[in-house]
Amino acid sequence: MIFDVMTLFPEMIDYCMHESVIGRAVKKGIITVNCFNIRDYSTDRHRHVDDYPYGGGAGMVMQPGPIYDCYADIMAGKETKPRVVYLTPQGRIFDQPLANELAREEEIIFLCGHYEGVDERILEEIVTDNVSIGDYVLTGGEMPAMIMIDAIARQVEGVLGSSESAANDSFQDGLLEYPQYTRPEEFHGMRVPDVLLSGHHGNIDLWRRRQSLKRTLERRPDLLEKVRQSGGLSAEDREFLASLQEEAPGSGQ
Ligand code: 6GU
Repeated sequence: MIFDVMTLFPEMIDYCMHESVIGRAVKKGIITVNCFNIRDYSTDRHRHVDDYPYGGGAGMVMQPGPIYDCYADIMAGKETKPRVVYLTPQGRIFDQPLANELAREEEIIFLCGHYEGVDERILEEIVTDNVSIGDYVLTGGEMPAMIMIDAIARQVEGVLGSSESAANDSFQDGLLEYPQYTRPEEFHGMRVPDVLLSGHHGNIDLWRRRQSLKRTLERRPDLLEKVRQSGGLSAEDREFLASLQEEAPGSGQ
């Protein structure tokens, strides 16, 4: 899978893409991250890529020309137009279903904005998806692009080792993940739950399912409600949740 990133700060992206799990996937050739410096496409003597906003107001706006020339360079020789994601707090909120959907693309182009914004005309012309990573404002689109690439890439076949499978992740079944423990058996007076030492896989699976349900009820009741409404809870699950409500009515609300 290919990710093309149009940015004014290619070193930011480059660095992250050579570390850890994503770095390993890049080395193995499963994913490719191409960074394009928009400034390289400036036609200005001083390599400017921004200018004052028409109509006045604070800050600078990124000009359409250099972004278009950068995009045209990426598109040269391609037969199909990849999706072009503009990172913006005005976009659709990025979530696991969108990550899974984008992981099925062969190539995605990201446009990272900076300053006060980007000339609307280039957005109209090339962008297919406006995406935000949450309801807060950041100084630029680079970190959101890296977050998206990480979340998308780890859904791509071969990026995670078999022991890191994405199938058990929080959010894949709509629930938060159960708690994990490793050695030692006792730490600062706290013991690993007995069931995990029992070797009884049926009991372990049931315990983990219940921990996921309990944790999701306590921390993200909104997610639990979604799973409930989409029919993702078994009769056993519902019975267990009801027993929790009896123990501590009103908890998790
Ligand atoms: Cl995608 N960009 C910026 N600049 N700020 C954000 C964002 C994106 N998502 C949330 N805040």
